[in-house]
Amino acid sequence: MVQEILCYKYDMNNNLHNHRILLIISGGIAAYKSLDLIRRLREQGAAVRCVLTKGGEQFVTPLSVSALSEDKVYGDLWSLTDEAQMGHIRLSREADLVLVAPASANMIGKMAQGLADDLASTVLLATNKPVMIAPAMNVMMWQHAAVQANIKTLQQRGVHVLMPTSGVMACGEEGEGRMQEVADIIKAVTAHFAVPGPLSGLRALVTSGPTFEPIDPVRFIGNRSSGKQGHAIAAALQQQGAETILVTGPTVLPKPQGLKVIEVQTAREMLMACEAALPADIAVCAAAVGDFRVADIALQKIKKGAVPPTLELTENPDILAALTKAGNRRPRLVIGFAAETENLLQNANAKLLKKNCDWLVANEVGEGKGFDQGENTVTLLKRDGVGKTASTAWPQQSKDAIARQLVDEIAKAFTD
Ligand code: PMT
Repeated sequence: MVQEILCYKYDMNNNLHNHRILLIISGGIAAYKSLDLIRRLREQGAAVRCVLTKGGEQFVTPLSVSALSEDKVYGDLWSLTDEAQMGHIRLSREADLVLVAPASANMIGKMAQGLADDLASTVLLATNKPVMIAPAMNVMMWQHAAVQANIKTLQQRGVHVLMPTSGVMACGEEGEGRMQEVADIIKAVTAHFAVPGPLSGLRALVTSGPTFEPIDPVRFIGNRSSGKQGHAIAAALQQQGAETILVTGPTVLPKPQGLKVIEVQTAREMLMACEAALPADIAVCAAAVGDFRVADIALQKIKKGAVPPTLELTENPDILAALTKAGNRRPRLVIGFAAETENLLQNANAKLLKKNCDWLVANEVGEGKGFDQGENTVTLLKRDGVGKTASTAWPQQSKDAIARQLVDEIAKAFTD
């Protein structure tokens, strides 16, 4: 029974896998965001245990916190059951990080003064673990000299303060005091736990997904790329420590957390975004970029007539080729993809040379293959210094596994 209670519950295997977070929710309207925070932390694989203060209970219920964390919610310092099963000392020690979100002016004051008059403040005084706080309060309260002095004291003691942002507040006033967005808190927590990977200190650029080239205000030329392969590569690069920028055409995939995502529609927008993302050490072009666009986009929806309209097409810029021609801004390792329905190696090799990339992932596509599938079959071509190409065929496997294998190869190239 005790074992069961002590066991934090983990969700998906991700950035925060194996990390235990004790989330203290103090009183403030921003407490509603903490519910989303619990979900997102768990999505990243963290185990989340929650302490809800009396003030916090005015804004969110223990039931909703418990449902989302799938755990008991702790609140009462004097509860005999809590003390018997999980004393405040153990509660504070079993976490890897104590996160206070929102951190009210009152909670910040208690932390600064070392008060311990409820479970949350007692845990914070008893903990020997890193503490991160996300303050949230009215702008005048935030700017008050007493609060600012308390914040300074906490910072000097090593508390990581996620500074509040500016904006319109629930009270109607405007200014600094809004709790940071959940995505930003997740980023800070992820960064806190990040271990330097083999690609730390390197910048990576990945293109992913299709492009949509407009015909008129409602129609476009597109393709069936889902973005699964490119997104998986971006996530794997990020996980290995590279600071990663993902430039993606329209997809229905969730935005990968912890990396910069730039959403575009057309090939020309994708090119602009990629050029703006330079310099980069690594570029991986997995996007299925439309080779052509309509020369004159109709301003109004094209009507049906006696004769079907003729579309005049013009060539799109080649992003991969542009990256290899970027002079001293050329990424050190440029990897293209080649989606081929026939003569895989021959066509892929020709693209490798024509687009002057270093490596190329030759991708078998067609009926039930490549585009929008969970698995993929690829051959990796590498060009050596004297212009020879070596190829290695990989077995059919999930796009995540291909991404990890490719990123392992990249890491080897940068560490050899
Ligand atoms: O998105 P998914 O559903 O997961 O599917 C993944 C994928 C099959 C789309 C992906 O693995 C893949 O093969 N991507 C390349 C698709 C493609 O358009 O290949 P291509 O042979 O037409 O282009 C060759 C290379 O030039 C590619 O790196 C492409 O990104 C690049 N290119 C092409 C045209 C252009 N105008 N600009 C480019 O940068």
